[in-house]
Amino acid sequence: MKTNQNLAQITESFTIQLADRVRRLTAEGVPVIGLQTGDPDFNTPQPIIDAAHQAMLQGKTHYANSRGLPELRSALSAYVEQRTGRRFDPNSEMLITHGGTHAYHCALAAILNPGDEVLVPAASWQTHANMVRVLRGRPIQIKALPENDFLPTLEEWESQITDRTAALVLNTPSNPTGAVASRAYMQALLDLAKTHNLYLISDEVYDHLLYDGAAFTSAASLAGGEDHIILVNSFSKTYAMTGWRMGYLCAPAAIISSALKESQHTITNVAEFVQIGGLTAVTSPEVAASVEAMRAAYAERRAQVMAAFAQRQPRRVGYITPYGAFYFFLDLRPLGMPSLAAAEKLLNDARVAVVPGLAYGSSGEGFIRVTIAADVEHVLTGVNRIIDWAEAQ
Ligand SMILES: Cc1ncc(COP(=O)(O)O)c(C=O)c1O
Repeated sequence: MKTNQNLAQITESFTIQLADRVRRLTAEGVPVIGLQTGDPDFNTPQPIIDAAHQAMLQGKTHYANSRGLPELRSALSAYVEQRTGRRFDPNSEMLITHGGTHAYHCALAAILNPGDEVLVPAASWQTHANMVRVLRGRPIQIKALPENDFLPTLEEWESQITDRTAALVLNTPSNPTGAVASRAYMQALLDLAKTHNLYLISDEVYDHLLYDGAAFTSAASLAGGEDHIILVNSFSKTYAMTGWRMGYLCAPAAIISSALKESQHTITNVAEFVQIGGLTAVTSPEVAASVEAMRAAYAERRAQVMAAFAQRQPRRVGYITPYGAFYFFLDLRPLGMPSLAAAEKLLNDARVAVVPGLAYGSSGEGFIRVTIAADVEHVLTGVNRIIDWAEAQ
């Protein structure tokens, strides 16, 4: 019988697969420090849960508006405008999606034809490249050096543009590196997209998670190029709502009308009670205070990890200072060991689960990613075990 040869060539998500493996080991009684998943260890703020709960009790458990609830789109439009200065029309330029993953899926589905190319930095969230493959496009990895915070130079981007290129993808703050692109960099990238008549897909799911005074630039706040910008965002990271599966897409009306078709024929709509929770997330001052409290907690953990490195001065493992998101990209290059082997050995020898840098693209080789969105004792125990392990190699 026939099967999809395209999907046969795509690897399973490394992080999701690893998380399943850690769950299995834990169930078997093997204590593993799981630092592999980008899932906040905080509970969703209570007002969001209360709003969704009330909505369920009121019977909001049926099909709902496929673009997203009008009141949620209006609130998000105001919220994005207040943060970026750019207004997206809630009726034609916004779509509520099943997480940031689905926002990205719908965006690509709206622009790609088979064989089209999408340029993705060579250390980037795995789905950025794999979703292109799922949709029968070709992801093109753009080399990105650690010395440049893993942000490809403009020349590297431009050198890979062909007449098949459809879009450039940038994620700032970055998973896995924690890099935050400057306004000048973003503007230059948008100008490049404009010059070559391409879309700039800006994945901004970590836009609230910034440290040490780093400034976030939304692509929507850049000058000119309105027709070229596609924003992907999510409730998952900011509001500790990963399990709710809700995100949103902001884009030119023609993109949204195609994305809407993709969404209607794949998910129908996001659950209404989930969206009502989301409305509280973007409008409640109490939730805004919780968001800041979670950010401050990540900042504290980040400082503690950096203090552990400063105190121990390891020679065989270093890190790229993260200015955003909630990960450390640890530099194991002094070991000269492939990152896949290092991650496997760390799990077997030190019982710490991490993601090999290669999973994020070729430029991530020699690195491993650990999360700080986990219990601080786990994070510190895990990081110290990694240091002990690396120094013993
Ligand atoms: C850069 C980036 N974009 C998008 C997502 C998708 O998030 P979700 O689908 O949970 O909203 C993630 C999740 O890890 C991510 O790291």
